[in-house]
Amino acid sequence: MVYDYYASGAEDQWTLEENRNAFSRILFRPRILIDVSKIDMTTTILGFKLSMPIMIAPTAMQKMAHPDGEYATARAASAAGTIMTLSSWATSSVEEVASTGPGIRFFQLYVYKDRNVVAQLVRRAERAGFKAIALTVDTPRLGRREADIKNRFTLPPFLTLKNFEGLDLGKMDEANDSGLASYVAGQIDRTLSWKDVKWLQTITTMPILVKGVITAEDTRLAIQAGAAGIIVSNHGARQLDYVPATISALEEVVKAAQGRVPVFLDGGVRRGTDVFKALALGASGIFIGRPVVFSLAAEGEAGVRNVLKMLRDEFELTMALSGCTSLREITRDHIVTEWDAPKARPAPRL
Ligand code: FNR
Repeated sequence: MVYDYYASGAEDQWTLEENRNAFSRILFRPRILIDVSKIDMTTTILGFKLSMPIMIAPTAMQKMAHPDGEYATARAASAAGTIMTLSSWATSSVEEVASTGPGIRFFQLYVYKDRNVVAQLVRRAERAGFKAIALTVDTPRLGRREADIKNRFTLPPFLTLKNFEGLDLGKMDEANDSGLASYVAGQIDRTLSWKDVKWLQTITTMPILVKGVITAEDTRLAIQAGAAGIIVSNHGARQLDYVPATISALEEVVKAAQGRVPVFLDGGVRRGTDVFKALALGASGIFIGRPVVFSLAAEGEAGVRNVLKMLRDEFELTMALSGCTSLREITRDHIVTEWDAPKARPAPRL
């Protein structure tokens, strides 16, 4: 049940495969004979200095993967000099995660029908030292995840959604289908709209990243509504099936943002080459979801540290072999996509 919850996508899981496949259709145009003896992967995100543009996406209920759950992820992220995003539906609270020590952390927000719950939670995150809100906007209802329906997925009874424990919303009832889908139907606000993005800014000074944008139209609306950044995401292909891979939607969003706010990407990033491709298409950084829960299940904190190190090492190697010594040097000309067809393929001989 837990593996299926972590691994699955929605319905036919077409987008789940496409999130990976689309990366494999982007090829490199590496440059040679450039001194790559020193590679600088550091970057600044919302004013925070990071060791690399690889960050951790929010994934719910990490104690199902390992007893240390979000504690392990927080420690691994901080040791790697990068950002962890804590899910609203974490099995550790914002205060507990803060108690693991220093680190730059973002808080992912699901907006509940009861706005007092939301306001309280946002205040708690701010007090616990979280630096930004990632507002998830692609989940007015839960996507149809058929494995969860078959398994009657629910949070195991020895765990709680810790941030909501005191609010009597920390438990998930069993249902005839997905217990999580029922929880969302009962608690999450389907009326959420752009005006709420503005409302959120009246209750917090934290910058707001809008997570789940995949079109130019919504990019412009998000910036108008005061977003400090955009995360191109299809929720790891767990919401609407047959949306494009995030790497295919990225450039449209980057163009619409016109440099006014940073654009990030998550979905299907599994290799250093994927990180490079996203940056070449204009992302300021990427987030990983499943690699964190899988490595957590394998080896706890050591596992997450290792996954971050593997991606970091691969990304560094990709930079070196492409002739780039800093993130600034990664350009659109270092890759070729299927939508730049003339450059990609020689014209067919007639
Ligand atoms: C998620 N994701 C997610 N997103 C969010 O905003 N809040 C959440 O609580 C969760 N929970 C969650 C659980 C699990 C098990 C997965 C796999 C995903 C989506 C997540 O933040 C991110 O968008 C994707 O995971 C990125 O895709 P990859 O890296 O998993 O391919």
